This record gives sequence, C-alpha cells and structure tokens, in this order.
Amino acid sequence: MNIAQVDYDGLIPNNVGLGQDLRVKHALEKWHPGYINWWNDMGPEGFQESLVYLRTAISVDPKGWAKFDYVRMPDYRWGVLLAPQHEGRKIPFGMHKGEDAWQEVPGEYRAMLRRLVVIQGDTEPASVEQQRHLGKTAPSLYDMRNLFQVNVEEGRHLWAMVYLLQKYFGTDGREEAEALLQRRSGHADTPRMLGAFNEKTPDWLSFFMFTYFTDRDGKMQLEALAQSGFDPLSRTCRFMLTEEAHHMFVGETGVTRVIQRTCEAMKQAGINDPTNIEAVRKLGVIDLPTIQKKANMHFSLTLDLFGNEISTNAANAFHAGLKGRYREDRLKDDHQLEGGTYPVLRLIDGKIQNEDSPALSALNMRLRDDYVVDCNVGVGRWNKVIAEIGIPFEIKLPHVAFHRHIGEFASIKADVSGNVLSDADWTKRRNEFLPSDADREFIEGLMQPQFEPAKFASWIAPPRVGIDNKPGDFEYVKIADA
Ligand SMILES: [Fe+2]
Ligand SMILES: [Fe+2]
Repeated sequence: MNIAQVDYDGLIPNNVGLGQDLRVKHALEKWHPGYINWWNDMGPEGFQESLVYLRTAISVDPKGWAKFDYVRMPDYRWGVLLAPQHEGRKIPFGMHKGEDAWQEVPGEYRAMLRRLVVIQGDTEPASVEQQRHLGKTAPSLYDMRNLFQVNVEEGRHLWAMVYLLQKYFGTDGREEAEALLQRRSGHADTPRMLGAFNEKTPDWLSFFMFTYFTDRDGKMQLEALAQSGFDPLSRTCRFMLTEEAHHMFVGETGVTRVIQRTCEAMKQAGINDPTNIEAVRKLGVIDLPTIQKKANMHFSLTLDLFGNEISTNAANAFHAGLKGRYREDRLKDDHQLEGGTYPVLRLIDGKIQNEDSPALSALNMRLRDDYVVDCNVGVGRWNKVIAEIGIPFEIKLPHVAFHRHIGEFASIKADVSGNVLSDADWTKRRNEFLPSDADREFIEGLMQPQFEPAKFASWIAPPRVGIDNKPGDFEYVKIADA
C-alpha cells in the first residue's frame, strides 16, 4: 500500500493497513462508540450540528496532507495516521543506540512504554474537555473554527495513542484505552493525570495562552517521543507534530491579535501609560498588565508538566531508548550521556542556584530549558507588535521558580523575578503576579459572542490572513444549520 495515502473506505480512516489487521480493526471498532459518546458528552458544547470549515488529513505527505471542507464535528473522520517508515532506521540514543529500531514492543520495556503512551494520550481528550464551553463566547467565526479545529485534532491525537495501545499492548492496552474515555478534566474522583489538564480554560485569552504555552509542552513531548527507538511511536508522533503546529499558531496569533487590539485602542484614545488599567479597560480591550498575568499563570502551570528537574524515570526512558531529547537527531554528542553533566537550577540552602548534575538525570530539566527558549521566540514577536505601535511595555516570561507545584521550587514562594518570598508576602502580592478575581470578572464580561462573518469582538484584532486563504467575510462556521 501507499503509506502517503489514507484509506477512507472503512469506519476508521488509516494508513496502517487496518483492512488486513482484523484483530486491531475490531478492537478499534469496538472502542469507537465509546469515543463518540465521549465526544457528545465532553466535546464542544453546542454547535455539534453546525457546519464547520475544517481540515481533514488525507495523506501524510508533508507537501499536501490536508483538505478543507464543511463538516459537522461528530462526522469528522478521526483516523489513524503514521508518518512514513524510514527503511533501516536505527535506535538513535541510549544503551541500544545503533541497533535496529523496534517494530514490536521490547518485552523488558513494556510497562515503561505503555506509561509514556498513556500519559501522552490522557492530555489529548483533557484539553477538549477544558475548552468545551468556549464556543458560545467565540469572538468571531474565524476563532470559533480554529477552536473546533484544535478540538477535533486533539480527538485524533487520542485515536493515535489508542491505536498504539490496542495494537501493541494486548489486554492492558485495551483497558487503558477504555480508561482514557473515563477520566474527566477537573473531576474530583477521576481527574486527568496531569495538573495543568485539570485547570479551567475559562475565557478566550486563556484559550490562546493555553494553545501557546501548553500545546507547546505537547510539542516538546512529541518531539522527544518522535525520537523513540520504538518505531510506531516515533512515526505516530511525527505526524501529530504536523497538526500540533496549527495549535501553536492559533495560540501565538491569538495573543498577538489581543495585544495588537489593546495597543491600537490605546493609541487611538491617546493613552500611553499601560498601567492606567482603568482607562484602558474602558476602551473594551484587555490591558497589557493583565495579559502579562495570564501569561505568568499559563507558563508556570505548564512548566509543572515537565516533572521533577532530577528524574530517574526520565533517565531510564532515555537509557532504554524510549524517549529522547528535543531534536536528538540534530545534537552532536555521544547520545548516551553516561558521563556528562548538565546544569540544573536547584534550591540549595534556601537559595536558587545552578548545580551540575548527571546529564541522564537532568533530562526533564533540559527539555524544559529547550521549551523556555522556544516560548521566548513568540514572546519576542508579541513585544515587537507593542513596540511598533509605540506603547512602553514588554511581556516577560516569569522566573522558572515562580508559582510552581512540582519539582525543586514547589516548596517555596517566589516572585516573577525569582526572589524568594515569605508566605505572608506572597499572599499580599499574589494579585500583582496572577489574575485576581476582579481581573477574571473583567475578562469574563468582555467575552461577548460575535457570530457575524467578518466581525470581531471589541478586544481582538482580525487575523492578517484567512484560513485556507479565505476572504475576510468567509463564513467559517454555519451555525444556522444547527
Ligand atoms: Fe495533541
Ligand atoms: Fe495540540
């Protein structure tokens, strides 16, 4: 079969030859109704009958893998797509470096591998659940469509992980696939596995921050798993990354458009002082200090997803050849790290300072460092927009010790510059750093829907170009067909 083309004949579109793999085909067909139930219960609230201008993957060829058309979300063709196999691929790192990549699960690493797949899989439906209320306050049809595109693709990412569980992990894989449909974001008894995926996404600025910061954690994890010596995982993640790029585009341009609108409204009204919050808010836009606080919140919650700075799990997964470093294949070293060290920011005698640690134990830290660099690129672009309009303000990522719940800094309170604070000072100053109830209420008040083509809510600028090069007045969601 031609791997680049997707077989759309059966219930489950795929390029993995499901037609010849009846055991897995039946397992997935059995899982399918539960998935649809989950989508109906926990997917976007309302708009399920609306026609949404969505892209669907029809191939895994990087030069033209998607087609755009109006689709009702429950009819979206969720499928199983793997990037093409590289003939003769070798395990690129760890103790098995240079051996043939595994096409089956290596027995001794089965539990570790299953856990990696389940943790990644759990984040996918979680974000759909977190974002399910946002449709009804969409600032435009363009944004509504982008939200739903992200949602259906996170649904497909769940399919991607469930395929691996069903195909390679037997009975326990099947049980894990069921459990992925049972947990619920924010649920008291059966929450999702990771903290940031149990937080609320209460408004659209949060959605843009989430897709900028938290989907970018997803990108880093997928990049690390795309290096895996377990070839089916590598190929799955490589194709997921193609879709993930759009999610981060939605986040980066979303925040850019909020910032742009704020700065333009300030200029127009002759307000130059970004800290004159009351005056800025009267313009129906979100003041820059509040945007900064939202960034502080989502950045710090996302840093927790990288886990403990010093981690034997991370060391074991690398050593075994299951999870590599960010773009392992472009790094120039021995790819085994048995002897090397890596500087880790730690809390030593109450002070935040660097300490050289064994490189293998410091892999979470290293991935997090790569993540922070990646985050700063877009922040630089936000600041360019502010500077070009001429407002004296700069968005800055907070110190990594700020507002942490996992790792070295979970036990302390720090300000956004990394100065350690007493509990009393933290309580006093918290609202300087993170959105206050009043900030949240103000933003919530702004979240009025704008469902007319070509129109946008007061607090966000239109995009520079349309999706699929559509004109500005294109009707991205036909709500009326509901
Ligand atoms: Fe995803
Ligand atoms: Fe994503």
